[in-house]
Amino acid sequence: MSQLRSVIRGCGAYLPERILTNQDLAKLIDTTDQWITERTGIKQRHIAAEGELTSAMGTAAARQALKHAGIDAQDIDLIVLATSTPDQTFPATAVTIQAELGITHGAAFDLQAVCSGFVFALTTADNFLKGGQFKRALVIGAEAFSRILDWQDRSTCVLFGDGAGAVVVEAQMLNGAATDRGILATCLRSDGRYRDKLFVDGGPSSTGTVGHVRMDGPEVFRHAVTKISEVIDATLAQAGHKASDIDWFVPHQANKRILDGAAKKLGLDPERIIVTVDKHANTSAASIPLALSTACGDGRIKQGDLVLMEAMGGGFTWGAVLIRW
Ligand code: COA
Repeated sequence: MSQLRSVIRGCGAYLPERILTNQDLAKLIDTTDQWITERTGIKQRHIAAEGELTSAMGTAAARQALKHAGIDAQDIDLIVLATSTPDQTFPATAVTIQAELGITHGAAFDLQAVCSGFVFALTTADNFLKGGQFKRALVIGAEAFSRILDWQDRSTCVLFGDGAGAVVVEAQMLNGAATDRGILATCLRSDGRYRDKLFVDGGPSSTGTVGHVRMDGPEVFRHAVTKISEVIDATLAQAGHKASDIDWFVPHQANKRILDGAAKKLGLDPERIIVTVDKHANTSAASIPLALSTACGDGRIKQGDLVLMEAMGGGFTWGAVLIRW
């Protein structure tokens, strides 16, 4: 039976020019390259220049995704931006990106699910496209996370970086075959009982300030693999697939130990995991589209491949998306 499917048409990325290595950090705070590498797999991160905004990074990634898709900005009628570091409290940073791209029709809004933001944004766009309300969406993850880090807190500041990634998603009427392209299954979860395990200690209605990232690292780590595994199982079951069917596993790039743990539980060959955490660190909502763009750019992810994404972040929020590329 024919059905509307959300098909990925292209992807793009943007990374700020400045690279901050672990060795650079060791000159600023009491840490070592060895500690960071062993605990996280991170070797370096990109840092936005002064005055370089989330909207500018998101726009650059969106332009590259449009180019890769061969689609004109005027053909986009939905922009969903996942970010925890908007340019301003309001308006949504998505409308700045919309204006930068010269789009005056359709809708643009921000979505906040911290490191799970891209998975939540892609699922949101998928539902709008499948429902027939919009035809082509830009789903973007963009973060200037360096701006909300406490650079005196070595337990958090070594973990994050800045950047943006984007995908163009198009509603296509397909014939319902098992080999059809598009988003096959999505699964989102949240549990606010854990909201104080990873949070920012400021905000418009509480302190009137932006605040800084605070995290109970071991507690986040303790929950990560179990929660991620549960949502992956639910997503695969929804689509009638097994872990062994997956061509590429594109996890949120928080920590090499967490993503290896999830892949091991799935029984996946390490060659099938897309890893960028070593070069980008944790770019929160931008990490999955940055990884997608890397793996599409170097020819690993190809049309027809089965791609599984997952993420977990503050809230806690977590989720997974299964796509036939
Ligand atoms: N450099 C050197 N030492 C550091 C350090 C750093 N950057 N950060 C913390 N330490 C020290 C601590 O002070 C502590 O010292 P102590 O034993 O003398 O008190 C020691 O290292 C161990 O700290 P702990 O927090 O228990 O380390 P850990 O093994 O749990 O590793 C994380 C810390 C953050 C790497 C780990 O908990 C983690 O990866 N958590 C998940 C974080 C994450 O991915 N969050 C994002 C989710 S979206």
